[in-house]
Amino acid sequence: MTRRAVVTGASSGIGAATVRRLRSRGWEVVGVARRADRLAELERETGAVSFAADLTAEADTAALAQFLAESGPVHAVAHVAGGARGTDRVEDGDAADWRWMYDVNVLAVQQLTRALLPHLRSAAATDGHADLVFVTSTAAQAAYPGGGGYNAAKAAESMLVGALRLELNGEPLRVVEIAPGMVYTEEFTLNRVGGDRDRAAAVYEGVQNPLTAEDVADVIGYALEVPGHVNLDLVTMRPVAQSAQHLLARGPLVPRIR
Ligand SMILES: NC(=O)c1ccc[n+]([C@@H]2O[C@H](COP(=O)([O-])OP(=O)(O)OC[C@H]3O[C@@H](n4cnc5c(N)ncnc54)[C@H](OP(=O)(O)O)[C@@H]3O)[C@@H](O)[C@H]2O)c1
Repeated sequence: MTRRAVVTGASSGIGAATVRRLRSRGWEVVGVARRADRLAELERETGAVSFAADLTAEADTAALAQFLAESGPVHAVAHVAGGARGTDRVEDGDAADWRWMYDVNVLAVQQLTRALLPHLRSAAATDGHADLVFVTSTAAQAAYPGGGGYNAAKAAESMLVGALRLELNGEPLRVVEIAPGMVYTEEFTLNRVGGDRDRAAAVYEGVQNPLTAEDVADVIGYALEVPGHVNLDLVTMRPVAQSAQHLLARGPLVPRIR
């Protein structure tokens, strides 16, 4: 049986890698993001269906739900869309940035979950189970200076996921949280620092092998493909160089032989 997944954030980074990963494993995929041109390119490359939507807009979310209801079952939703804006200290925080982060990482995720739970339930009723995967962040687990707005938004998203898993107890619906640490993707940090390429490059400077979008996509794929009774509640994944939010090795990783 072919399963169909909805992947948000499909126009770049982890979302695009997830679309590729799932397509390579035979999934039908609907990729969602705002930039239709990038989705169309991915559609040509992978055969994934694309749906352009601003997930912070109620009407777009409703249109997506309608499209999905008319086009087939939904066995899985991977909530990857999200992001960070700014590195302000709390005392300097820009309200527009903080609002944007809450909208895209929390409210849009909640609204899409609400809209697609009926689809997931009917797929689970005929095919055994259905799945929701959420990409939060290690920023949800530990605060860092300049991270306040993103820490708050991702922690809120993580709490939403925890509450949902409890609320769905008794149904064959898996609720999976994947919390990556530093991932090198082309746009995430660049957007966070307002397009300043030097500042963005400095974040990754000297770090040996940050996670890649494909690393995270592999874990998403794994979570969706383990037997349906296995729920990966929370997978925290980091590059080896990043032992904690505050402890990042720059330079080569070298065994301290003694
Ligand atoms: N990179 C990291 O270090 C890292 C670490 C931990 C967690 N994460 C999380 O992982 C997820 C993906 O990160 P990434 O590195 O792949 O970032 P990215 O390349 O910037 O991707 C973000 C995606 O979200 C989409 N998006 C943003 N606003 C949207 C909206 N209003 N409606 C629909 N789609 C929207 C963007 O597409 P459009 O612009 O086309 O809409 C884009 O495809 C995010 O939730 C991020 O918080 C990232």
